[in-house]
Amino acid sequence: MDLFNKEPDLLSMTYDEVKSLAEKCQKCPLAKTRNKVVFGQGPVPCDLMLIGEAPGADEDAQGLPFVGRAGQLLTKILASIDIKRPDDIYIANTLKCRPPNNRTPSAKEQEACWPYLEAQIKFIKPKIILLAGSPACKQVLKSDEPMGKLRGKWTKLPGTDIAVLPVFHPSYLLRNQSKAKGSPKWLTWQDMQEVKHALEYHRKVAELTDNL
Ligand code: URA
Ligand code: URA
Repeated sequence: MDLFNKEPDLLSMTYDEVKSLAEKCQKCPLAKTRNKVVFGQGPVPCDLMLIGEAPGADEDAQGLPFVGRAGQLLTKILASIDIKRPDDIYIANTLKCRPPNNRTPSAKEQEACWPYLEAQIKFIKPKIILLAGSPACKQVLKSDEPMGKLRGKWTKLPGTDIAVLPVFHPSYLLRNQSKAKGSPKWLTWQDMQEVKHALEYHRKVAELTDNL
């Protein structure tokens, strides 16, 4: 055991402590090319959480998740079921730093960054987690299945009672504009209706439990 190289115990820290640690992170080479660390945005705790892939150019410049073109589409998709940003959803990514040229996160980068996301999930205590795109499914569910197979199928976060729904990434929807029945956008609409109902269910349960 090497006491001097021990990983800090993020799960025993506060949200703000973990956030400031992440903002100084040097665990992987992306630290050298990033402008801003994009930790996450939204209320803590929060019933609904979304995990995307990694910051792009706009996010890297502003330090906030999903603020570019994909982010604008995400905002619209969420608004369609009355979820407003940043008040009604906590948004994070598998990586807190931008990969050069927006390349796909590597397994090593995802592994290095996972403890931050794990701590975020602990603080946010979501009832529902949306995994947007393959990299999020890979990091969180350890699944290499294609999105076409995973999307729309509810599962649980391993070892927890948290409901998880893989959904298409908004960037994928930008490249597939059709709204025809069975298209990615149409399927996403179905997914969001399910999310809406699941959130209503959790609110109802919370109300009933409060009145006991
Ligand atoms: N794409 C992502 O996956 N995350 C962001 O924050 C922005 C674009
Ligand atoms: N393929 C991807 O890479 N992402 C999606 O969201 C859907 C298909």
